[in-house]
Amino acid sequence: MIGITQLTEADFDYLSARLDEWWGGRSMSAMLPRLWFKHFSETCFAVRDDEGRPVGFLVGYVQNNDEATAYVHFIGVDPTQRGRGLGRRLYQHFEEQVVSVGCSNIEAVTSPSNQSSLAFHEALGFVAVEPNGSTALPSEAQGVRDYDGAGEDRVLLRKSLSQR
Ligand SMILES: CC(C)(COP(=O)(O)OP(=O)(O)OC[C@H]1O[C@@H](n2cnc3c(N)ncnc32)[C@H](O)[C@@H]1OP(=O)(O)O)[C@@H](O)C(=O)NCCC(=O)NCCS
Repeated sequence: MIGITQLTEADFDYLSARLDEWWGGRSMSAMLPRLWFKHFSETCFAVRDDEGRPVGFLVGYVQNNDEATAYVHFIGVDPTQRGRGLGRRLYQHFEEQVVSVGCSNIEAVTSPSNQSSLAFHEALGFVAVEPNGSTALPSEAQGVRDYDGAGEDRVLLRKSLSQR
């Protein structure tokens, strides 16, 4: 395994073809079109195998209406490589990059049915922000009904980077 490098447009075909499988058969590829690889590579990262293929990746950015807050749109690890700390390493790398440009928070959203994502984000120190503004453990959160459209409930996740 080699280190973490930027994700580039050259990674698009490889990852796009694997997204649905990595997400357990969910239809995900339409949510990660080429534009993310082309225009956001400065804050998108991959951990690669010896041949340079991504075995894990993170797609994020600094919010353009709040430069103190970064957002993670996607993080995924090859199912054969999970449980080895790669997801945590990708987040740590992203955090270092966004802290260096002045961010003090990270946000993400995930589906309430994605229990492994909720447990992963909880292990990394995220809290869930409930509709009334209170916080909860991600694994215990109610989430926001219809957040991404009818039937598309989401748990809103937030992590403070100020105590890193
Ligand atoms: C979520 C995902 C990125 C985790 O990647 P990973 O490399 O296996 O995670 P790590 O090995 O770095 O685990 C980091 C921590 O999260 C915890 N964790 C990860 N997956 C977990 C799971 N399914 N259940 C419980 N805890 C989990 C680990 O126990 C670990 O905790 P620790 O460091 O305190 O021991 C990976 O499972 C994945 O790609 N899932 C499918 C895509 C997805 O749902 N992405 C998130 C929404 S965009």
